[in-house]
Amino acid sequence: MKLVKHIANLGYGSRKQVQGMFREGRITDADGEVLYADDKVEHDAIRVDGEPLDPPPGLALMLYKPTGYTCSTKDQGRLVYDLLPERFRDRDPVLSSVGRLDRDTSGLLLMTDDGQLLHRIVSPKARLDKVYVAELAQDLRGDEAAQFASGTLLLESDDKPLLPAELEVLGPRQVRLTLHEGRYHQVRRMFAAVGNHVQALQRVRIGGLDLGQLQPGQWRQLQAADLQTLFGAAQ
Ligand code: URA
Repeated sequence: MKLVKHIANLGYGSRKQVQGMFREGRITDADGEVLYADDKVEHDAIRVDGEPLDPPPGLALMLYKPTGYTCSTKDQGRLVYDLLPERFRDRDPVLSSVGRLDRDTSGLLLMTDDGQLLHRIVSPKARLDKVYVAELAQDLRGDEAAQFASGTLLLESDDKPLLPAELEVLGPRQVRLTLHEGRYHQVRRMFAAVGNHVQALQRVRIGGLDLGQLQPGQWRQLQAADLQTLFGAAQ
């Protein structure tokens, strides 16, 4: 791919703007030699204003989503993209969330611009568990674990019962819930179905990958070893 298109696709600007950056000498190699738009150079050797280029297409990252942020490119209010470098919003191929977390849910969110990877993660075949910790408005009544494990619980406006899910009681109003599917507002609707209400919800793990050292609002790029960890438990 031509350099101008490659750099523009990474969100550095329109092709016209990137052409301007070449003319201004802002695009160089690792030794600071000015590059020209028709040079043939590897991605890793390119610098913009002396800084390495953002990762090429095939980017995958994990974000510790805080509450109050929406998994969308254009909702009103705070967006998960506000927590990433500004350019990431303008990449082509687009960087999207792998599944969604509600605005009021915090925790592990994966994002990628790799459509195949995205489908591999969300595919039921991958069997990637999703683990949530929830704080409840009321004390557990005692039958929730059995209901969730039954494989017969039907949520309002669904036509198929939920797959069995595992509930671990951490306190009278605190639980860890492991799901093997991902339906709209699933955790909140499950607790509504057993007469309770989720007050706070955090996703702590997907497949073999947990939040590790990340703090709310922080993100990091996923490396091949992280993807192995993610899929590892399922393979
Ligand atoms: N279940 C929910 O209810 N909300 C989420 O954000 C994720 C799972």
